[in-house]
Amino acid sequence: MRVYELILKKRDGGALAPEEISWLVKEYVAGGVPDYQMAAFLMAVFFRGLSPEETAALTLAMIDSGVRLDLSPISGVKVDKHSTGGVGDKTTLVLAPLVAAAGLPFVKLAGRGLGHTGGTIDKLESIPGLRTDLSQPQILSQVQAIGVAVAAQTEDLVPADKKLYALRDLTATVESLPLIAASIMSKKIAAGADAILLDVKVGSGAFMKDEESAVALAETMIALGRSAGRKVRAVVTAMHQPLGRAVGNALEVAEAIATLKGRGPEDFRELCLTLAGHLIEMGGAAASPAEGYRRAEELLASGRALEKFRQMIAAQGGDPGVVEEPEKLPAAPFIFTALAPADGYVQSVDARSVGLAAMALGAGRRRKEDSVDPAVGITLQKKAGDRVKAGDVLATIHARERGAGQEVMERLLKAFSLGPEPPASRPLIYRVVS
Ligand code: URA
Repeated sequence: MRVYELILKKRDGGALAPEEISWLVKEYVAGGVPDYQMAAFLMAVFFRGLSPEETAALTLAMIDSGVRLDLSPISGVKVDKHSTGGVGDKTTLVLAPLVAAAGLPFVKLAGRGLGHTGGTIDKLESIPGLRTDLSQPQILSQVQAIGVAVAAQTEDLVPADKKLYALRDLTATVESLPLIAASIMSKKIAAGADAILLDVKVGSGAFMKDEESAVALAETMIALGRSAGRKVRAVVTAMHQPLGRAVGNALEVAEAIATLKGRGPEDFRELCLTLAGHLIEMGGAAASPAEGYRRAEELLASGRALEKFRQMIAAQGGDPGVVEEPEKLPAAPFIFTALAPADGYVQSVDARSVGLAAMALGAGRRRKEDSVDPAVGITLQKKAGDRVKAGDVLATIHARERGAGQEVMERLLKAFSLGPEPPASRPLIYRVVS
C-alpha cells in the first residue's frame, strides 16, 4: 500500500477502506510514514471529512496502537466523563468525588492543558504532593479502596493520538470533527469505563463555535462509543465565557473545594449537579437524571462528596489539609485588579481571550513541552449580565512577576464587553444528546 495513493484518494473525496486506515495508522506510529505525508493526509481529511465507517476505523486503529485499561476487576458500572475542553472547566474535580460518593466507581484518565484550555492533571498537580502518574494496578487498587481515581494518561494508551495530535497542532488540522471525535473516543474507549458522559462545549472558548456543530460532534462520538459497547450520552453546554470565576490551576482547585462545600459559583455548581445527575442515572444509582441531580445535591449538602475528595487527594499522595485550608495551595505574589472603564452591563466575557491571558501569565502551555505555574491565573469578579459602575473590579490577576501581570491587563480588559442594556441571557445547558 502506498501512502501517496491514500492521500490522493482522500484529497479527491474518496472513501478509504478500514484496512487502509488501520495500515496507515500502524505505519505512522511505527515511523514508516513521514510527518509530511501524514500532514497532507490530515489536511485532506480536514477538507473532505470522513464517513462514519472511516471514523470508526480510525478510532479502532488508534485504540489498537496501544494498550487498553482493563477495569473488569472493579465491580459495578464504571463511569467516566470527558469535556471537549474549555476555560475555567474544573468540573472533574467536583464530579469525580460527587459521583463516587453516590457509590459509582469513577475512573478517569485526564490530560494536561494546551493553548487557551486548561487540563485536569495540571489542576490536580497544584495540590502539594499529589501524584497523577498512577500505574494500572495503582488505579485499580485505589478505585477498589475508595471508589475514585483521576490519573494522567499513560504513554502506552493510544500512542497514535499523541503523535497525531502533535502533528495536527502544528498543521492547523485540529478543528476537524471526525479527527476530534476519533481522538477523544479512542482514549475514552481504551480507558475502559462502561458508561461515558461527554460534556461537549460550545462557544468562543470551545472547538465548536455553534450549537449545530457541537451536536454533530456529540452524535459522532456517541455512535463511536456505542459501537464499542459503551453507554454514552452527551450534554452540550456553554463555553462563551469561562465556567465559574477562577481560571488557573490552584485557583480552580480552591473554587472546586468551595463548590464541594456548597459555596461555589452558581453556573459551575449547576453544571456539576446536572452532569452528576446524568452519570448517577447512567450508572444505575437513580431512576432518572432529575433523581440523580437531587441525590447529588444531598451528597454536596451532607459533606460526603467533600470527604471523598479528601480521600482521593490523600490516596494520590497529596496534602488533604488543602480541603480545610485552601491557603495551603500555591499563591501568586502579585495581585492586580482590572477595573471597569465605564458604567454599564457586562455583555460578555470572551472565554478564549481570558484563557489566552491566563496562559500568558503561565497558567497554561503555548507548546506541549512547556511547564505551568500552578499559582497564577485570573479570578472574574463580574460575568455576563452583571451591572457595573466605572472603577468596579472586573477581574483579579494573580501573577508571578509584576511585568507579566501588567502585560495581560490590557488583554483581559478587552475580553470584557460592556453595554448600556442587560444582554440577552444564554443557556448554560443547551441540550442532552443520547
Ligand atoms: N481533545 C482531544 O483529546 N482531541 C482532540 O482532537 C480535541 C480535543
